[in-house]
Amino acid sequence: PTIFVVTPTYTRLTQRADITRFVNTIKHVEKMHWIVIEDSEHPTEAVRELMAESGIPGTQLYTKTPENSEKKDGMERFQYHRGVDQRNLALNKIAAMGDKNAIVYFADDDNTYSLEVFDEMRKTERVSVWPVAFVGGQKYERPIVVDGKVKKWHVSWHPERTYPTDMASFAFHSSLLHTGRVPQFSHEWRQGFLESGFLEQLLDSPEDLEPRGDNCTKILVWHTRTMDVNIKREAKLRAEPFIKV
Ligand code: UGA
Ligand code: MN
Repeated sequence: PTIFVVTPTYTRLTQRADITRFVNTIKHVEKMHWIVIEDSEHPTEAVRELMAESGIPGTQLYTKTPENSEKKDGMERFQYHRGVDQRNLALNKIAAMGDKNAIVYFADDDNTYSLEVFDEMRKTERVSVWPVAFVGGQKYERPIVVDGKVKKWHVSWHPERTYPTDMASFAFHSSLLHTGRVPQFSHEWRQGFLESGFLEQLLDSPEDLEPRGDNCTKILVWHTRTMDVNIKREAKLRAEPFIKV
């Protein structure tokens, strides 16, 4: 099956560095289609160029996350999640493309991915799952597998979630996009509940998950984050000719 890799992204100083590193991984993955969705009112030249130079078959989409807003009836303020509208747009696009034997994976542009995780996810029948490092205030979060089934989770942040796991920890078969309405993310869900809310639409119980990576004992993905770059000395310098960073 083809793997649809779904990557939300946004303009920032380190975007080209992050996407270059990401491309240097996924260019080694065979049979994949890269869907990049910019959090923007229009597609950018930077992303168009990075995608073209990568040589990876892909689709450039865009949709701007709405500004934070006040909930009606004066309820408490809530923050919009990152990547919600972008991933929803990609899900609708993939469903419309109609490939009924593909795998879908949400791969943020700043994480670190082994090549092995793509081999593992290609075996997915419904939904595969594996550990993710550097997330939730832990060295790693992981499902705990007993007799081949996910029975509980090594997670301390909101462990009461039905699927207390990171976006980078699962992939699913495209047939699940064709069983009724296309599964979606919602801004209404609490912070940190995106993954669980989404997986609840795909499966009846965590025991339906297919554990990968030697029964979830191998780290194949790291939730790395790029540091903010300090450019405070730029202003003291003479103007430079335009150089793309
Ligand atoms: C964590 C999870 O790993 C994300 O999958 C999840 O979307 C996010 O929390 C959340 O709950 O909102 P984190 O590393 O904190 O991720 O978030 P980022 O990496 O900053 O953002 C996730 C993805 O959305 C990235 O691919 C990023 O480029 C993109 N993004 C970020 C946007 O499209 N717009 C933004 O304003 C910020
Ligand atoms: Mn991130």
